[in-house]
Amino acid sequence: MTKRTLKDYEHVSLRPEYPAGAVDFERIFGRAAPVHIEIGSGKGTFLLNQARRAPEVNFLGIERANKYYRSAVDRIGRWGLGNIRIIRTDAAHFLTVHVGDSSVDCFHVYFPDPWPKKRHHKRRFVSGPNMAQMLRCLKTSGVIRIATDHADYFEQIEGVLRAYSQSLEKIEFPPAAGAEDGELTGTNYERKYIKDKRDIYTVAVKKS
Ligand SMILES: C[S@@+](CC[C@H](N)C(=O)[O-])C[C@H]1O[C@@H](n2cnc3c(N)ncnc32)[C@H](O)[C@@H]1O
Repeated sequence: MTKRTLKDYEHVSLRPEYPAGAVDFERIFGRAAPVHIEIGSGKGTFLLNQARRAPEVNFLGIERANKYYRSAVDRIGRWGLGNIRIIRTDAAHFLTVHVGDSSVDCFHVYFPDPWPKKRHHKRRFVSGPNMAQMLRCLKTSGVIRIATDHADYFEQIEGVLRAYSQSLEKIEFPPAAGAEDGELTGTNYERKYIKDKRDIYTVAVKKS
């Protein structure tokens, strides 16, 4: 089988060496619209399906791994969707340095790497400092949606949310618009875990 060469689509990807200062979402999407950010967007399956079903929203994916990022850029470019941008960088750094206060409507954090070994727990994305950053970036009533298959990580996530309970309110976690029947998010990992019959834990909160 011949492997197709992945194509770069310049209009889809933001350069990792994004200029200093906060991203001007209106400029990078060419329109003013609600902004949703997916942390760890993998090969872009959630972004593609969600952006197709919610054309009124601007979606930014942040993905650290070059292999997945390149695959996502290729797919997004081929699908010809104008409301997705993606950047290959570390999400914690990008939020801290490049995302302005009260500029984001929703964060999607689906199946973040669980780092199961105790000595690696500090690498988990959902931590106190990253929650503080997401809350800073969110508009009032903005939403954070999190899903994981990892019970121990979910416990940590609930602990982090409890620590910020003054600034947020728990809400329902309805299936994402791009999810298929029986799915909650429609990401590749969720599809894999549904096949494996793994438990999936979800939580959604709103910034108060
Ligand atoms: C387990 S995969 C899940 C991918 C996708 N969300 C899904 O559910 O199919 C986690 C993804 O997050 C990316 N990732 C992990 N830490 C990251 C970080 N700090 N910044 C950006 N991407 C990150 C990984 O490279 C990987 O693609």
